Amino acid sequence: MSFTGDLLKSRVIVITGGGTGLGRAMGERFLQLGATVVIASRRDAVLQAAATEMMALHGGRVVPIACDVRDPEAVEAMIESAWTQCGGVDGLVNNAAGNIAAPTERLSHRAVDSVLGIVLHGSIYCTLALGKRWLAAGRKGRVLSIVTTYAEGGSAYVVPSAAAKAGVLAMTRSLAVEWGPRGITCNAIAPGPFPTKGAWERLLPDPSLLTEAIDRIPVRRAGELLELANLAAFLMSDLSLYINGDCITIDGGEKLKGAGQFSWMGSLTSAQWAALEASARGATTKDRSPREA
Ligand code: HXC
Ligand code: NAP
Repeated sequence: MSFTGDLLKSRVIVITGGGTGLGRAMGERFLQLGATVVIASRRDAVLQAAATEMMALHGGRVVPIACDVRDPEAVEAMIESAWTQCGGVDGLVNNAAGNIAAPTERLSHRAVDSVLGIVLHGSIYCTLALGKRWLAAGRKGRVLSIVTTYAEGGSAYVVPSAAAKAGVLAMTRSLAVEWGPRGITCNAIAPGPFPTKGAWERLLPDPSLLTEAIDRIPVRRAGELLELANLAAFLMSDLSLYINGDCITIDGGEKLKGAGQFSWMGSLTSAQWAALEASARGATTKDRSPREA
């Protein structure tokens, strides 16, 4: 089961944070499907090594450009360089992120600014820099932002990330309406847990935390990077042109399990279920008048 090799033929796609983790997995998939990929993040050495490895594995062209997305001038220079080197750009994946798992009262304002700067400002700066070029050139464009399943409902202990991802989701939905008529679509992916060094070493460093995290997922496993990369490829391709302003969750059902008021009942033993049934049936019988019972 696979997409055909020309799904993204001749497309140029910029991926922020494209040298590691999910960004790199998406970049590799886009390359396999015919795209030219621009990867942008802070660490030039990481980007250079990733570009060399990606081209050795899949052929095609990967252009590494060092850029701190918190800096609007650096973003402008990165997008200008991508556009010039590749003869235009067709798509953007806002994937770069920072996150700190901590009780919120332990965070300084610099810690808050750091996460908001990377996730919220970085995503808006990149989207604006490309969007202005697309609109001026009358060119179509696609923006895909990687958010989180807590972008909508928030989450304790990752407050700057939750606030920033909520903002990115709001940007996605707002621009889908504003720029949709001019050929630019904006969508988001909300991933559940996917094993990447950057996220898991920072947020789930203790194996017991990992076991707990997996236990919460109805399909009982973490996501595979290729599963997310294939979803992203679909959303960057012409197969999904009518999807605009949406956020696709890919989490094995984790978010819904947390939301269902009775989902905790999955931990009941069969004896407890039998006792519950007997008690519920007894209550029903008691509630009826003698004639009904
Ligand atoms: C409290 C912390 C902290 C911590 C850093 N700080 N870590 N405060 N608890 N664990 C504080 C610092 O002391 C400093 O404040 C401020 O934050 C900025 O820290 P720096 O190290 O100077 O910042 P910087 O080098 O810019 O690093 C940014 C970062 C870092 C966000 C802190 O973690 C980073 O570079 N992350 C990028 C990759 C990443 O996070 N990947 C995971 C994405 S996963 P003071 O006041 O001391 O100066 C994700 C979703 C996962 O987003 C979903 C679930 C699986
Ligand atoms: P990751 O490998 O740590 O990716 C983060 C990337 O962002 C890195 O390549 C990093 O590169 C880049 N970055 C950080 N700060 C930057 C800055 N100021 N400017 C430019 N680039 C910057 O983690 P990941 O798991 O692949 O995360 C990728 C995306 O998926 C993120 O948006 C994350 O929120 C989302 N996500 C991940 C999971 C998961 O389980 N893995 C779950 C939900 C959502 P440099 O350090 O070189 O800058």
